[in-house]
Amino acid sequence: MTTLHFGRNLVSCLRMVGAMKVAPLFLLTCLLGLLVQSPCLLAQKATACEVKGRTADCTHLSLKEVPADLPADITRLDVSHNMLPALPGPSLARYPQLVRLDASFNDIKRLESDMCLALPLLRHLVLRRNEVHLLTEKDVLHCANLTHLDLSSNRLKLLGEPFRPLQRLTRLDVSASGLTSARLGSVPQLWSLKKLFLSGNAIKTIKSNDLSYLSNSSIQTLILSSLPLKTLEPGCFQQIRGLRDLVMDSSSLSPQFIAKLSEELSGTRIASLSLRNIKLVSLTNTTFIGLQDTNVTSLDLSSNSMVSLHNSPFQWLGTLERLCLNENNLKHLTSSSFTGLGNLRVMNLTRALVKSHKSPYPIIDDFSFGPLTRLETLLMDYTAFQGITANLFSGLESLGHLSLSWSSVGLQTVSGKTFASLSRSPLRTLNLTGVDISRLEPGAFSDLGNLTTLLLGYNFISQTLTGEEFRGLASLEELNLYRNRKISLSPLSFVFVPSLRKLILGLALAQNQDFDPSPFQQLRNLSTLDLSNNNIANVMEGLLAGLENLRVLRLQHNNLQRVWKSANPGGPVSFLRGLRSLETLDLDSNGLDEIPVTGLSGLSQLRELGLAGNVLDHLRDSIFDDLDSLRVLRMQRNLITSVPRGVFGPAFRNLSVLRLERNPFDCTCESILWFVNWLNATNASVPQRGSEYICNTPQAYFNKSVDRFNPLSCKDMAPFYALYVANCILVLLFMTTALISHFQGWRIKFHWNVLVNRTLGFAEPDLGEARFEYDAYLIYAPEDSKWVERHLLPLEEDKQYSFFMEDRDSVPGRPQFEAIVEAMRSSRKIVFVVTEKLLSDPCCRMYKAHQAMHQVIEDSRDSVVLVLLEDVPDHRLSRALLIRKGMLKSRCILHWPLQRERIPAFRHKLQVALGSSNAVQ
Ligand SMILES: *[C@@H]1O[C@H](CO)[C@@H](O)[C@H](O)[C@H]1NC(C)=O
Ligand SMILES: *[C@@H]1O[C@H](CO)[C@@H](O)[C@H](O)[C@H]1NC(C)=O
Ligand SMILES: *[C@@H]1O[C@H](CO)[C@@H](O)[C@H](O)[C@H]1NC(C)=O
Ligand SMILES: *[C@@H]1O[C@H](CO)[C@@H](O)[C@H](O)[C@H]1NC(C)=O
Ligand SMILES: *[C@@H]1O[C@H](CO)[C@@H](O)[C@H](O)[C@H]1NC(C)=O
Ligand SMILES: *[C@@H]1O[C@H](CO)[C@@H](O)[C@H](O)[C@H]1NC(C)=O
Ligand SMILES: *[C@@H]1O[C@H](CO)[C@@H](O)[C@H](O)[C@H]1NC(C)=O
Repeated sequence: MTTLHFGRNLVSCLRMVGAMKVAPLFLLTCLLGLLVQSPCLLAQKATACEVKGRTADCTHLSLKEVPADLPADITRLDVSHNMLPALPGPSLARYPQLVRLDASFNDIKRLESDMCLALPLLRHLVLRRNEVHLLTEKDVLHCANLTHLDLSSNRLKLLGEPFRPLQRLTRLDVSASGLTSARLGSVPQLWSLKKLFLSGNAIKTIKSNDLSYLSNSSIQTLILSSLPLKTLEPGCFQQIRGLRDLVMDSSSLSPQFIAKLSEELSGTRIASLSLRNIKLVSLTNTTFIGLQDTNVTSLDLSSNSMVSLHNSPFQWLGTLERLCLNENNLKHLTSSSFTGLGNLRVMNLTRALVKSHKSPYPIIDDFSFGPLTRLETLLMDYTAFQGITANLFSGLESLGHLSLSWSSVGLQTVSGKTFASLSRSPLRTLNLTGVDISRLEPGAFSDLGNLTTLLLGYNFISQTLTGEEFRGLASLEELNLYRNRKISLSPLSFVFVPSLRKLILGLALAQNQDFDPSPFQQLRNLSTLDLSNNNIANVMEGLLAGLENLRVLRLQHNNLQRVWKSANPGGPVSFLRGLRSLETLDLDSNGLDEIPVTGLSGLSQLRELGLAGNVLDHLRDSIFDDLDSLRVLRMQRNLITSVPRGVFGPAFRNLSVLRLERNPFDCTCESILWFVNWLNATNASVPQRGSEYICNTPQAYFNKSVDRFNPLSCKDMAPFYALYVANCILVLLFMTTALISHFQGWRIKFHWNVLVNRTLGFAEPDLGEARFEYDAYLIYAPEDSKWVERHLLPLEEDKQYSFFMEDRDSVPGRPQFEAIVEAMRSSRKIVFVVTEKLLSDPCCRMYKAHQAMHQVIEDSRDSVVLVLLEDVPDHRLSRALLIRKGMLKSRCILHWPLQRERIPAFRHKLQVALGSSNAVQ
């Protein structure tokens, strides 16, 4: 690019240097400029063409010869707007693959015969605006492959049969080349020619034989515009019977000439005749008589000055399907204006009837369109006529589309009678945009039952729509009331148009509408609703309820900020709830400063969201969370300072266009780092990214582009952040450990013990009953030690039992847990003295209980004995000691009796329990 610009600079400098007697100062500036760019000078090639793919653009380089340094395989070369004097074969031979060569606007004086020889694949040759003068057959002898040749705006002098070699040519343009005759050859040639341009030459007459060289060609279109034509000799078009389109625009042709033309076209296959802008003032009943023997289907008479169409001028054109009369000056249409046009499908009368300064309104008689029974489209935009009379449109039995936009037709009040003459037409579209309507009466369109589109924008309708206005429009799908300003809606406004799909009420409504109940509730099929520019300040939650098919909702330029405020009495109004199909939502310019959390929830189909021009600042997290399909987000011109992931992350997921410019960004790590990184990585289009995303704070970035924010500056924070996180984790870990070891430490120790014993092979060998050092290991709460001393210890003396009691027998200094394990191992039975106290003694009790159970299970011993001093429910027991009464044999569960006389029996039972075998049965 630099190279190119430099090249252009250089060239323009040199050109100026050459062109004028340059002031030394100027020269100095030029040279300085060159010096500054001297690195480019080295890289500078001989030319500065722009090559894209296989196309080379060498325009505007003041070239004097074809550049020699382009890629050899280019297929298209544009050397227009240069100073080439010729196109010599040798210089083009470097590009043998050229298919298209444009050398317009040069100084080429003649075609070199070796050019085509060098370019065997050339198809398009454009030589517009050159100086080509003499043209001979030899010059184009090798150009047989050409399909398009443009020699317009030269000063041609044809010698011999210069076009004869061009057998593949389909399009030949020799417009404005000073030719005085249409005769480009004398023998049949140009077999393949389809389109011939002869416009703008000095051809005054077309002689009988002038076009005979086309007699065996495929010509379909002949352009004869802007010629000073005066005479047509008989039979001149008879030579080219394949002619379908004849264009004779922008000449001055008299009615007599047109009549003669029609006569000459008689019997040809002409289908389309264009006679635009030929200063035609009137037509007579015989002007087109010659066309009755043709199948002409399209006639263009636009941009003339025709004043009248009396006397059935078109009576001969029974096959005509399309008639353009736009831009004329018709004063009066009568019932004879269109006689004979029974096949017409489209008629364009745009600006065909106009009211000039002093002239009276043009008149259209009743039944003027009567003959047009097959007319489908009638365009009467920008026309002026006296008024829509009772039978104006009578007879238009096929009319589907009528457009009267911006016409001046006295339509202030539309009543049931206005369009009664269309009652037999299957009208589907009626365009009444800008026709000064101020009032619609009940049943105004009731005769138009097939209407699907009714355009009433840009009028002055000011009334309350009761619904009666649209009675009978059961098929209506589109109603446009844009820019009427003073319409009021009532709950029944649209009751008769339940099929509406598109309702445009932008800039249409009077102030202070309350919409309660909603006028839209019947419109189940509504897909587009435009309520923009209405200054609406108040909406109910149910305004859009039930509009499940709504896809486009436009609410821009209203005054909805209160509706979404959390301070709104009753809370923010979720008026978008339930709009499941919504794809486009425009809330631009509503003064919004808050978006409630549920404001946009459920809009999973939304593709385009407009919130531009509000005063949004801090947005709540997750307001955009449901917008899974969002592609376009517009939030430019708000007060957004930070773009955090929590808010924008979901909205930015799959964006294709983001408009967030012109917000006062706070360029700090917390506010903008995530956004800057997103911008750097995104493929989305972000218009004006370089110029309109400006930091407002902090001072260091004030007035600088967001792109200048350096994400690396946030890296400094990273170690601190890591430290912080590590600290937190450590503290948490510590606390957890402390808590666990407080409440569950016994469990850890227990499993540790089991593990150690297993792995180190401490599992004791089965030594039989003999190995036990103690008869029982006693587990009791400290508070119950009195009872133990009184009722159990005596057994040691009386019956020679030996018990292990922790506080008595444990060896001081040994770790408590290990001692417990060992003591349990060497005890034949484990006796729990169960009281509430034991059950609520946390640490040791749990450990001991677990260890005991482990012992029981490991050794398959039936070694647990419960002595219940109090009545304890089973669930307490199982929770606290992991023991269920049901797990034990009944003789191992002893209840301390309340009656003193039963104590001996208890003692006996205890001895039985302690003496029972440990083997599991
Ligand atoms: C016309 O083009 C064909 C390839 O499409 C080529 O082989 C032939 O030589 C060309 N003829 C002339 C006269 O250049
Ligand atoms: C007419 O054109 C065809 C090609 O379309 C050609 O083959 C034939 O020779 C031409 N006839 C005359 C008489 O020129
Ligand atoms: C054309 O109109 C004239 C009267 O203006 C009438 O005498 C003549 O018969 C009409 N010719 C045709 C063909 O309608
Ligand atoms: C609509 O047009 C069709 C014919 O195209 C016709 O049969 C039907 O009656 C028309 N409906 C109304 C309501 O006019
Ligand atoms: C709504 O549209 C559906 C399907 O397009 C159609 O069947 C139904 O008749 C329409 N409802 C109304 C009230 O026009
Ligand atoms: C993004 O949007 C495109 C176009 O709508 C869609 O094809 C694609 O599936 C979407 N990707 C994701 C991840 O949503
Ligand atoms: C932008 O992204 C590229 C790679 O995707 C990375 O090399 C570059 O450093 C980034 N620039 C900034 C400013 O983050």
